[in-house]
Amino acid sequence: MSRLIIVSNRVAPISEGGPAAGGLAVGVYDALKETGGMWFGWSGDVLASGQPQIVLEERGAVTFATIGLLRRDYDQYYRGFSNATLWPAFHYRADLVQYDRHEYEGYSRVNAWLAQQLVPLLREDDVIWVHDYHLIPFAQALRAAGVKNRIGFFLHIPFPASQVLLAVPPHRELVQALCAFDLLGFQTRPDLRAFCDYIVNEAGGTTALQPDGLTRIEAFGQTLCAGDYPIGVYPDEIAELARAGERGKPVRTLKSTLHGRKVIMSVDRLDYSKGLVERFRAFERLLDHTPAQRNKVSFVQIAPPTRADLHAYQDIRLRLEAESGRINGRYAELDWTPIWYIHRQYERAVLAALFRASNVGYVTPLRDGMNLVAKEYVSAQDPEDPGVLVLSRFAGAAQELSGALIVNPLDIDGMADALGTALSMPLAERLARYQDMMAQLRENNVSVWRDRFMRDLGRVGVRQASLPPLERAQG
Ligand code: G6P
Repeated sequence: MSRLIIVSNRVAPISEGGPAAGGLAVGVYDALKETGGMWFGWSGDVLASGQPQIVLEERGAVTFATIGLLRRDYDQYYRGFSNATLWPAFHYRADLVQYDRHEYEGYSRVNAWLAQQLVPLLREDDVIWVHDYHLIPFAQALRAAGVKNRIGFFLHIPFPASQVLLAVPPHRELVQALCAFDLLGFQTRPDLRAFCDYIVNEAGGTTALQPDGLTRIEAFGQTLCAGDYPIGVYPDEIAELARAGERGKPVRTLKSTLHGRKVIMSVDRLDYSKGLVERFRAFERLLDHTPAQRNKVSFVQIAPPTRADLHAYQDIRLRLEAESGRINGRYAELDWTPIWYIHRQYERAVLAALFRASNVGYVTPLRDGMNLVAKEYVSAQDPEDPGVLVLSRFAGAAQELSGALIVNPLDIDGMADALGTALSMPLAERLARYQDMMAQLRENNVSVWRDRFMRDLGRVGVRQASLPPLERAQG
């Protein structure tokens, strides 16, 4: 069997318990620990000077190969082009897009440099699976270095509509770079459709749905395939974590502080794409319109800091602090705090236990590739007495989790109504919705996601190898 090489900017912390936040690290770690292989990426260190060196560490069947970034590379590739240009554009926030040509040059340079670092570690029959928006030019860079292995790419975040992507000045080069992969994976059909729309209407290429369900793409002199692969979780493993934590300290503390009140729970990186301000206002609207809910329910928002050296992230933090202070000032009583806004990170097992102890999972991003918190919330529920998921229609997870109460995060009254419905939902309806969602989560768990992608990458590789040499050499 070929060895699996995962490449991503962020590599899961090698510590016990795995990563706590960020869908990529959680999902990829779950997928890789089963098959074994190598995970190559940034160590998280930023070096003032010198020559970064790869560090290899074994953990179970996985070899972690990580490397630091020089300060200028971090600024241009990670903080700059990846997170100040691509991240807002791909989350439909053209208003937040900042573009600097030097940062884009840095992004391309770091991709080429990372590819060169990986090459000596590769074997002939390795299968390479690259993840997320930081590494769009990675296949081009590997090919330029002579690598002939099969290379797939999975985008964890949304792929935007063409008219939004056009806001990124080098949009054409980016899409051309994507076409150097053998297989492209998107989270949902709408993301795949958006990509195909760009190929046909902006790049003058063609797309064709094949009998095997993959879309064949011809553009920029390249032939490749694309498909949708919604990432999953291991629902039964999470249920077990949650059950094991039921009597643990965090849940006991939560329950003793609540004194029998209900609890609405949210966990997100503190990111402007997560719709946190709208979410706080909808909770306020619930209290406003339904006096009977006052002093009967608390909303716990856990929001670990992220990318705090970017202005847009400092701004959302200030806005949320102002909103939670304002709403608590308006409604709090001596014995009741309406919003608990917690700006720190918890371990995955603690989060699972907290999900199980809460009545409503409140997951309302303005845009999200998938949102694994939604899937983890459902997985963590008590099968005899499950909570209710309130989910944004703009999270990829909404394409699968039809048992959730689906909301539009811009409709504050609609979200307040959904919270009210969730808090008073009878057991029979909660059970039916939970069972429906659990069946879906079990059917499309994270190993199904990985295996479908790997199977398709295997097939695509065979097809491309049989193409005439001229066609392969183009682009
Ligand atoms: C999202 C992205 C990941 C990223 C994670 C955490 O889930 O899709 O690629 O790793 O956020 O963000 P960070 O910038 O800390 O890696």
